[in-house]
Amino acid sequence: MNDKKIVFSGIQPSGNLHIGNYLGAIQRWVDNQDAYDSIFCIVDLHAITVPQDAEELRTQTRKLAGLLLACGIDPDRSVLFIQSHVTAHAELAWILNCVTPVNWLERMTQYKQKAAKQKSVSTGLLDYPVLQAADILLYDADLVPVGEDQRQHVELTRDIARRFNHLHSETFVLPEALIAKAGARIMGLDNPTSKMSKSTDTRYHGIGLLDDPDDIRATVRRAVTDSGRDIVFSADPEKAGVNNLLTIYQVFTGQSSQEIEDHFAGKGYGDLKTEVAEAAIEGLRPIQQRYNKLAEDPATIDKLLEAGAEEARRRSTPTLKRVKEHVGFIIPDS
Ligand code: TYM
Repeated sequence: MNDKKIVFSGIQPSGNLHIGNYLGAIQRWVDNQDAYDSIFCIVDLHAITVPQDAEELRTQTRKLAGLLLACGIDPDRSVLFIQSHVTAHAELAWILNCVTPVNWLERMTQYKQKAAKQKSVSTGLLDYPVLQAADILLYDADLVPVGEDQRQHVELTRDIARRFNHLHSETFVLPEALIAKAGARIMGLDNPTSKMSKSTDTRYHGIGLLDDPDDIRATVRRAVTDSGRDIVFSADPEKAGVNNLLTIYQVFTGQSSQEIEDHFAGKGYGDLKTEVAEAAIEGLRPIQQRYNKLAEDPATIDKLLEAGAEEARRRSTPTLKRVKEHVGFIIPDS
């Protein structure tokens, strides 16, 4: 009998994966694979809530699968699959739509931010968090390891689950967000007041997982800091840039805040930037090596994803059946 807690998390195959995604989410998915019964999903249905080029989406989806494997997601210990391969996600999302008030969705911060960037806002963009709720609830997940920006969506998932349980009968487990103390919100290097994001046009904004060492050094060298000299962790908005660099250093090296502050005592921002860049380069090197190897064999990745989808179907089917029974649908025999 498996009594491990169930973990579910997802990631969009849009734009380039950056160290925010890695340090805020993926690194912990990898580290906790033995502790939890883990399910990870490449959420292509979510990606099309904003316009996508079809070929580019396919390329990004395969690339993301390769990167997750290279980061250490182990298909022998975790389920890894593509969301559109398991139709239960879209099906449950529809049912959950029917218990979710529109004004819950209009309140979502990420919706408001993304909608502001679109000329025409799709219904899918508004509905995005309901699909995310379906992802999580289909697997009776207890824990959802995410970065800080996803906290509101996990809270909404709980609200939707609670409402469904109340309107129908007890159906869903209420999940909890699992958010790290360090690294849950990596900021843009060019602008430490906004989070590092996949969808950016600026050159020195983030560090991609596949960036080469020279690019990483160039980006970190241009990172915005402040006019002071103190290299200390700080919540002061003035020191957001230095705090962000120290956080990146911390999650790559695993050292405590005190060790890091002692290490940088008496050094300058130039030294800090050099050491942060080298820590990132060293941290990413093995991932890049594994990725380059895996990318030579896309057929193996496709096979792993097929097996993952098969397992995800096996695990989500009973939940969807339970939901349909509670809603009042006739369940066919076959
Ligand atoms: P996505 O693809 O934007 O991001 C994937 C994960 O990376 C985290 N993250 C960050 N963490 C720290 N600092 C940052 N700058 C940063 N940027 C991103 C995100 O919090 C996330 O954990 N809606 C989700 C995908 C999703 C999902 C789910 C997640 C769909 N269904 C079900 C959990 C459970 C998203 O767009 O993540």
